[in-house]
Amino acid sequence: MILFLGIGLFVYLKTPLVEARENILIEVNSNIKASSLIKNIKLGSYENTTLDTSKVGEKEIKIKTKSFLNKKGTKTVSYKVVDTNAPLLEVEAQINVQQEENNNLLDYIFVKDNSKEEIEPKITGDYDLKKEGKYKLKVSAKDSSGNETVKDVVLNVIAPKKVESNTNNNTSSNTSKENNQKENNTINTPKKTKKGYDIIEKDGVTYINGILIANKTYALPKNYGQGLTSETSAAFTKMQTAAKEAGLNIFIKSGFRSYQLQTEVYNNWVKLNGQARADTYSARPGHSEHQSGLAMDINLIEQEFANTEEFKWLQKNAYKYGFILRYPKEKESITGYIYEPWHYRYVGVSLAEELYNNGNWITLEEYLGIDSKYK
Ligand code: DAL
Ligand code: ZN
Repeated sequence: MILFLGIGLFVYLKTPLVEARENILIEVNSNIKASSLIKNIKLGSYENTTLDTSKVGEKEIKIKTKSFLNKKGTKTVSYKVVDTNAPLLEVEAQINVQQEENNNLLDYIFVKDNSKEEIEPKITGDYDLKKEGKYKLKVSAKDSSGNETVKDVVLNVIAPKKVESNTNNNTSSNTSKENNQKENNTINTPKKTKKGYDIIEKDGVTYINGILIANKTYALPKNYGQGLTSETSAAFTKMQTAAKEAGLNIFIKSGFRSYQLQTEVYNNWVKLNGQARADTYSARPGHSEHQSGLAMDINLIEQEFANTEEFKWLQKNAYKYGFILRYPKEKESITGYIYEPWHYRYVGVSLAEELYNNGNWITLEEYLGIDSKYK
């Protein structure tokens, strides 16, 4: 009798009692551990591994267990990976394009989804990029789980002449000279940076050594910006043509972003990854260089972009057209942002040449002696 009880107890202690949760739904590409599948465990422990959430569908995991008596085993638990978040659809409420340009409306739309799938945005409504007018369109993006984001967009096709004068008006305040040099005749006793440059604030916009600055320390006013400045667009087109001659295709994936659009983009990242993480790669509204009309993300907003021929070409040539790689590798504590191989800022040829430094980019923060920190 005692022998039987002893054997029973031995068997009982050999395997831990694992109670798994049922019908667990987990969001695709989220960082979730096995512990979220376990309700209770007695007489042992389990290995708290990370779950595979890379694809939508039914999944199974064999969780490694260990009993009190150090006996190893596994517990198979199933869970379901789902995608319930609608794609992030980045597009201005009004897109202004020049009638004569060789435009592709898709270049003005950026889609990102937590499923990481490539989603082609859909444009509904009639429009003609060669004909002046305002076209009311619907832009939508749907992921393979059926989540959809739809936005109303007004496409404003403008006659070339009109754009020329508009753009000049808009940009004369910040890029009247090639390298954004500015006459500082309006301010008395300006503050100075650590390197001795005057910090000039005009209409809420900060210029240091004539260079417009938008970073974590210096913000732009809410209503600032009307699109890429004419100099930035022209310089990009020149660079694009040169890249084409080298057999490469570069295009603007995300260009001007208004304060409103940046609010949406930033809030979306905060919702997905929390504010601390979002702050390492997405600017708070008012603090994005995209609102300045002088910056753009090229081709692919992913770290993998650094491995492409297009990136390698930009590394060698962007400065010749007045662009700098704004958030270089290992300068996170200086710029306030992680390495962004896709983000370029127009500063004009002479300054870009200076900051290029044989590919060891000098950041605007280092050059001017300023920091990039939220107050
Ligand atoms: N990704 C850059 C920092 C921005 O959001 O402007
Ligand atoms: Zn960017």
